[in-house]
Amino acid sequence: MASKLLLGTLMLLPGISASTNTILESRPHGYCKQLDIALPITAETAVYDIPKVDNDIEAVSWAIYDATRTSIHGPGNIIKNTTTSATFNIHAQLCIPNSAKNSKKNTLQIATHGVHYDSRYWDSKYKPENRSYVEAALKAGHSILTYDRLGVGESDHPDAYTVVQAPLELEILRQLTLMARNGSLYEFAGHAQPSNSLFTSLTTPHKVVHIGHSFGSFLTSAFIARYGPLSDGAIITGYLLTENLGSAGSTSFSVEYAATGNPAFDRPSGYVVCQRDGIQNIFFGGNPKTAFTKELLDYGISLKQPVPIGEFASAWSLLGNPGPSFKAPVQFLLPEFDFYICRGDCRGLANVTMLNQTYPHATAIEVALQPNTGHALPLHNNATAGFQLMFDFFSRHGL
Ligand SMILES: *[C@@H]1O[C@H](CO)[C@@H](O)[C@H](O)[C@H]1NC(C)=O
Ligand SMILES: *[C@@H]1O[C@H](CO)[C@@H](O)[C@H](O)[C@H]1NC(C)=O
Ligand SMILES: *[C@@H]1O[C@H](CO)[C@@H](O)[C@H](O)[C@H]1NC(C)=O
Ligand SMILES: *[C@@H]1O[C@H](CO)[C@@H](O)[C@H](O)[C@H]1NC(C)=O
Ligand SMILES: *[C@@H]1O[C@H](CO)[C@@H](O)[C@H](O)[C@H]1NC(C)=O
Ligand SMILES: *[C@@H]1O[C@H](CO)[C@@H](O)[C@H](O)[C@H]1NC(C)=O
Repeated sequence: MASKLLLGTLMLLPGISASTNTILESRPHGYCKQLDIALPITAETAVYDIPKVDNDIEAVSWAIYDATRTSIHGPGNIIKNTTTSATFNIHAQLCIPNSAKNSKKNTLQIATHGVHYDSRYWDSKYKPENRSYVEAALKAGHSILTYDRLGVGESDHPDAYTVVQAPLELEILRQLTLMARNGSLYEFAGHAQPSNSLFTSLTTPHKVVHIGHSFGSFLTSAFIARYGPLSDGAIITGYLLTENLGSAGSTSFSVEYAATGNPAFDRPSGYVVCQRDGIQNIFFGGNPKTAFTKELLDYGISLKQPVPIGEFASAWSLLGNPGPSFKAPVQFLLPEFDFYICRGDCRGLANVTMLNQTYPHATAIEVALQPNTGHALPLHNNATAGFQLMFDFFSRHGL
């Protein structure tokens, strides 16, 4: 029996540090394995005309610069176009449901988190039984890969100005997807130590679907637009391209210099991090008496991660890409009171005709609104019902 292999909640190989080790974990509804994947990446990058950030004053100045009405967010702000070719360590977690019959469809979800968080966004350790999307996915019989985007969490933290940029991150998502589709991801997970029969007996997923949140949805929506045939379905959460997107401005993040904010944030020049009120501004919404609790807000603050400012300078390249090659279903899941995406109110903003023009060959375009919830869907009281909207979408479309 599979569970005999992995008793206990966490199993570390002796003598190897947790941050670089492969960890096997038994969950109520499945098994998870931590992976460190060395990905060779070549992508277009650029030197942008943006300020340097080396202290708290410069961090706030950057936010004001970024929110200034005449600051250019586009190719006009490029000093020099470059190409970056390097191998980056990407930290990921592959989770598979504990019942083989549950995963008979053999679909893998690849989830991309947003800015200010890392992959733990999808996998809350606070009341995981109904806050962790990963736990809910396993319970519903789905396999799921979550990963720390470049510059975040246990992945590499390269130059904040010239390396961690949108096209390069898109290429990371593409390489992870290619690995999933050709079987090399599962092969890697099987070989990674400690080895075990659960992960060595996986067969290449029949379908690969993509989920995003916030900046992870910028990436996911651009990914399905640019590389449609590589995706069998997508759920875009906390993102909709309208004139309200980001209109609250980067000053709402209430940033400080990352190295100041927390000694554990060992980050170089150009990484900024939200203060407490910034996390609430961006991620929490709805009626404060019913939508979330102080514990959820505190947990959300404890998860915060620094952001490299080059990501904001280059984000324009992910917006408004036409997606005629995407021939699968897509769901847009909007928190009703999403401040950063909808300037606090998503009701009536989604225009399916316009989304259809972006993805003219999508087999379905659905929009769902999660009531009384802010940007960070899993960190609100009604999260479980929101996850169900996603699973219902997948099952309606045979995924
Ligand atoms: C960089 O490339 C973009 C196209 O991707 C172009 O619009 C821009 O003019 C180029 N900038 C420079 C300085 O070469
Ligand atoms: C969350 O899980 C707990 C424990 O299983 C349960 O009592 C509670 O009703 C759940 N809450 C929601 C909103 O599903
Ligand atoms: C699978 O895709 C990855 C990522 O592009 C590539 O490095 C690898 O060589 C491919 N493996 C096979 C067996 O095609
Ligand atoms: C939705 O988008 C279409 C196409 O861009 C436009 O013609 C229509 O007026 C929009 N509808 C609303 C209600 O804004
Ligand atoms: C998109 O619009 C086309 C043309 O009106 C229509 O045939 C198609 O069914 C629409 N697709 C979706 C997913 O709504
Ligand atoms: C919880 O979310 C579900 C799914 O969106 C919704 O039907 C229900 O009304 C919500 N409950 C509350 C109390 O907001």
